[in-house]
Amino acid sequence: MSALAPAGRDAERVLDLFVWMTAGAALIWLLVVGLAFYAIHVEPGPHPEWKARALIVGGGAVMPIVVLTVLLAFGLSTLPKLLAPAPPGAPQIVVSGEQWWWRVTYPREDGTAVELANELRLPVGRRVEVQLASPDVIHSFWVPSLAGKMDMIPGRATRLALEPTRTGIFRGACAEYCGASHAFMHFYVVVMEEDAFERWLDLQSAPAQAPADHPGLQVFLASGCGACHTIRGTPADGVIGPDLTHVGSRVSLGAGRLANREEDFLRWISRTTHLKPEVRMPAFGMLPADDVRTIAAYLDALR
Ligand code: CUA
Repeated sequence: MSALAPAGRDAERVLDLFVWMTAGAALIWLLVVGLAFYAIHVEPGPHPEWKARALIVGGGAVMPIVVLTVLLAFGLSTLPKLLAPAPPGAPQIVVSGEQWWWRVTYPREDGTAVELANELRLPVGRRVEVQLASPDVIHSFWVPSLAGKMDMIPGRATRLALEPTRTGIFRGACAEYCGASHAFMHFYVVVMEEDAFERWLDLQSAPAQAPADHPGLQVFLASGCGACHTIRGTPADGVIGPDLTHVGSRVSLGAGRLANREEDFLRWISRTTHLKPEVRMPAFGMLPADDVRTIAAYLDALR
């Protein structure tokens, strides 16, 4: 996560701004320190009045006005580029900040929508717009390598354009304190070639890939998990927690808290509140160990 290693058009602009602002600040700092040294070492004695006045008016008023005006104009000229919307026809993505994870929705042309969690995939080289929302508290959506940050405010629609310039996996985080597990609220942006992205989106639209008679699904349903989680193609249709239809194919578990292996599902299910304080999902450590293992194997198979 570094804003100094941009992989997106907007992050490049933010970096430019940072470099120019830092260079300007460094120059002024050198000037002021130079003057201080001059003041220490100059021969004591009377100075002509015009010189003193020139220093006060020039250094105290004219120079700050010029420097700040130039930096302000440069900073403001960056804004319209950062706010430039995506061209028509670009993929639409809706991201909602939840406590403490990211609900990601791709509305599709046929009116359906693909929902996943804690992961966005984007085609490289295309400008896309992410609509940001939050049902309860303020979060801030930030992928330092791709763009600046944007707040997600309950009751208000905000948006952020992303335009990745190279493929790769980039980590994002919540950049606004939002409660006990604010620090455990990460996500990944996977930037892919256009055709790979289309294939991925088609795969995500499909129902769950694991067999419907998997013993893990029976335990999952019997334990009540379907009240909060959806697995498309099964009776599980809860909407409180993340959609798990293809959870086994995601980069991470628990919003960047764990990797995504069978043993991570096991840890997450049995020690949820330990891994993410005040999370809404209770730990299911009271289930028989075999049941937890069966559910973990099933979720891992949801590729
Ligand atoms: Cu969400 Cu901090």
